[in-house]
Amino acid sequence: MSKLKIAVLVSGSGSNLQSIIDACACGSLEAVVRIVISDQKEAFGLERARKNGIRAEFVDVKSFSGREDHEKACAALIDSEGCGLVCFAGYMRLVTGWFVRKYPGKIMNIHPALLPAFPGAHAHRDALRYGAKVSGCTVHFIDEQMDSGPIILQSAVKVLEGDTEETLGKRVLEQEHLAYPQAIKLFLEGRLEILGRKVRVK
Ligand code: GRF
Repeated sequence: MSKLKIAVLVSGSGSNLQSIIDACACGSLEAVVRIVISDQKEAFGLERARKNGIRAEFVDVKSFSGREDHEKACAALIDSEGCGLVCFAGYMRLVTGWFVRKYPGKIMNIHPALLPAFPGAHAHRDALRYGAKVSGCTVHFIDEQMDSGPIILQSAVKVLEGDTEETLGKRVLEQEHLAYPQAIKLFLEGRLEILGRKVRVK
């Protein structure tokens, strides 16, 4: 069986990218990260890609007249590597319907909360302010709204007395690093069926 080729889109540190690279390298995923794309020139995720011999591309939003043109440039790179899955890993951009429709059922994202609770860029802060006793992470398919597509899997983490954004974030991130490769494994085994809002794991 040929390996699944993955494109990973990052805006920051790329620790989730690293967990995917590591799962590919140790053979637990029959996949290979072919390209890492970032909208941030200095994203450490690009550096991680280079260190691992993976093509790293900065695609500057400012060079394009609109979101769709920027996405078309990203898609051209993704397609040039023949990727069958696009993983957003800390990619801080909302994509248009054009991009979602270009890769139907083939774009995943990870979010550091149990969706639909606490979407957005401050999930840990929001969970702590709300007084949630449990948080966690969600891997889901992408749609046009923020953090809203069909859920593939979730992993729960207890919120502890005295938790800060940092301490909760660290424990959630540990779960993210397990959950993302696990979701990709289900995908490449053909075990994910999208039925409207729901994902059936076969
Ligand atoms: C993660 O918490 C992810 O869930 C969120 O952004 C963060 C990215 O972290 N979408 P990293 O860049 O993978 O270290």
